[in-house]
Amino acid sequence: MNTNPTSPNPFRRLVRPLMALGGLTALLVVGLLLTLMLWLNGSATQPVALARATSTPVSTATSTTPAAQPKPAYWHPPGDSQLPAGEAGRQVSYGRELVAHTAKYLGPAGSVRHLSNGMNCQNCHLDAGTKVLGNNYSAVFSTYPKYRERSGTKETIVKRIRDCFERSLNGRSPDSSSREMRAMVAYMKWLGTGVPKGDKPNGAGLEKLAYLDRAASPDKGKLVYTTKCQSCHGAKGEGITVAGDAQYTYPPLWGPHSYNDGAGLFRLSNFAGYVKNNMPFGASYESPMLTDAEAWDVAAFINSMPRPHRDQRHDWPKPAAKPVDFPFAPYADSFSEKQHKYGPYPPIADAKKKATKA
Ligand code: HEC
Ligand code: HEC
Repeated sequence: MNTNPTSPNPFRRLVRPLMALGGLTALLVVGLLLTLMLWLNGSATQPVALARATSTPVSTATSTTPAAQPKPAYWHPPGDSQLPAGEAGRQVSYGRELVAHTAKYLGPAGSVRHLSNGMNCQNCHLDAGTKVLGNNYSAVFSTYPKYRERSGTKETIVKRIRDCFERSLNGRSPDSSSREMRAMVAYMKWLGTGVPKGDKPNGAGLEKLAYLDRAASPDKGKLVYTTKCQSCHGAKGEGITVAGDAQYTYPPLWGPHSYNDGAGLFRLSNFAGYVKNNMPFGASYESPMLTDAEAWDVAAFINSMPRPHRDQRHDWPKPAAKPVDFPFAPYADSFSEKQHKYGPYPPIADAKKKATKA
């Protein structure tokens, strides 16, 4: 075999032009890739431009090609640079602090008063009520006061906050004139910056999952719980606290220190919608970790376990206005409490539709 580089063999003679060609191809490919990247970059910024264009007249070059939008433009909370100056800004910040670390101020070991059960608003209203589809407060200031069927009255923001203290935090609410209540309302008003009156931004509150065509199953849900939830929330759903900390590291899901049976999460649709986009912790609407069926089943399991009871005789003055998954009689239809609690919901929803048409 000739290994002298100065005297090329026939094989090399063949390879050299090929290598030259390869170099050219590589250059071409790199060029193409660059063009593609620039182009992709351009179209990726389009949704943002269009989202802005909903509030300002269309005038940019990109908006002349209104391509179909694959994703809705979700709500963004205002940034800290938009905090008002002085006392007003400090009040908003205190409101945010109370939402994020409620127990530290108002829980069983709270520094201000002892009113609530040790949970934080943020346990359910993630990132202090700013997470897309994480039960955020983006639509609070724009839609309250509003009529709500549960009370049969027009409710203010204060009344709505009071409800979460009495139900989700299974305790008592600070007075409407207290520094704490005023700060939380100020915080919600600030979060609503730029949301027009009456509007509900995309990604507000919780997702409404499609109904299963079967009843949600506590047995199947128990399996989901032990494999995907128990490591943080505990074998008895009791949560985890660190000694000396006034707040839970992992909040309780059932038992005496959890939300009561008058709370929003006690309805399976709310629970399933909450966990679908937010649990196990770290999940989001962009990267959910549960299927819809797992979310419904784990909701059924957790809400079949014991928890504090609330007298709800005065809720829902019109039984026909109860949501399909409201688990306590009396009802305007003939479905059982059990079916209202666990489903299957489609027959109940159909009956409700017919009744409202009649
Ligand atoms: C155990 C979970 C949980 C906790 C803790 C909790 N909430 Fe809620 N909250 C909910 C759920 C679920 C809803 C939606 C219920 C529904 O629509 O039926 C809700 C709704 C609300 C709303 C109305 C939102 C809207 O867009 O209409 C406000 C305001 C609110 N909560 C404030 C608070 C405050 C303030 C705290 C703390 C003092 C708190 N919540 C603690 C679960 C919770
Ligand atoms: C890695 C730990 C972790 C895992 C696993 C996890 N959670 Fe959570 N969960 C949390 C934390 C932390 C919070 C409170 C979030 C906050 O305050 O920001 C929370 C809050 C909740 C809440 C609202 C507050 C309450 O106590 O009612 C529910 C409901 C919930 N989780 C259900 C689940 C379910 C169902 C699963 C399993 C599918 C699960 N979680 C898995 C950490 C976890």
